[in-house]
Amino acid sequence: MAHVAIVTGAGSGIGRAVAVRLADIGAAVVLVGRRRDALESTAEALNGECVLHVGDIRDPDVGRSADAAAEQFGGVSVLVNNAGIMPIAPMTDASLDAWRDTLDTNVFGPLQMIHAALPGMRRRGAGHIVNISSVAGRHPFPAAAVYSASKAALDAIGAGLRAELAADMKRGGPPIRVTTIAPGAVTTDLISSIRDERTREGTQQYYDSMAAPLTADDIAEAVCYAVESPPHVCVSDLEIRPTEMTR
Ligand SMILES: NC(=O)c1ccc[n+]([C@@H]2O[C@H](COP(=O)([O-])OP(=O)(O)OC[C@H]3O[C@@H](n4cnc5c(N)ncnc54)[C@H](OP(=O)(O)O)[C@@H]3O)[C@@H](O)[C@H]2O)c1
Repeated sequence: MAHVAIVTGAGSGIGRAVAVRLADIGAAVVLVGRRRDALESTAEALNGECVLHVGDIRDPDVGRSADAAAEQFGGVSVLVNNAGIMPIAPMTDASLDAWRDTLDTNVFGPLQMIHAALPGMRRRGAGHIVNISSVAGRHPFPAAAVYSASKAALDAIGAGLRAELAADMKRGGPPIRVTTIAPGAVTTDLISSIRDERTREGTQQYYDSMAAPLTADDIAEAVCYAVESPPHVCVSDLEIRPTEMTR
């Protein structure tokens, strides 16, 4: 049966590439993000069925309504929790609002999407949740403590959920896979979410210093690898870096 995927942050970068690639393998895709024009541009680029769902993943209704939107294709089988922000800054200069936004978007957003999608996956007897984390969650760097914490939390949520669903499967529950993908530096618009000027310039210089950072397509390829693996194979965790990236 063809996949029905919800992709958050589908209007740009990794989310856009994932949506396009999933459509290439026959998935119907629910495109979630706050900017309608960005989602429309992704819809034009992809080859297949899709529906736009404009909303903010910090709003708990967005998970529920995106899940309802997937019903028109038969219900969600793949949830890609990709949307995220990186408003990094040294902790001594940062605002509480930026920390709250980071945790609300990068941790509570995915949790609300999982909360909305999981009951339907269980009812229909299969599913796959893919969380886009970051190597920063495993190797915090200066100015990124809270962003790293958000991604470490997402790693723990994915690992805990995977173990819980595997135990459930042993008791006769449905096969629902959980995959965490932790990219290193990928060329996207993410750096523009850094409000602290010095940190933004420093991060940009770091990305520019690389001969070949990853592309969004590199990560989309990994998502498809996990999704297209045979049902008995759970690609539970992938770290993907530019070859030249040291940490
Ligand atoms: N680029 C990298 O080097 C890198 C490395 C490791 C991990 N990652 C992770 O990869 C994921 C994708 O980032 P990207 O690099 O592709 O950057 P990006 O192009 O800035 O994409 C982030 C997407 O998330 C959406 N988004 C942000 N806040 C949202 C919210 N509250 N509700 C709904 N959508 C929201 C944005 O769309 P709207 O503004 O339209 O809502 C945007 O399309 C993120 O989780 C990021 O942490 C990126």
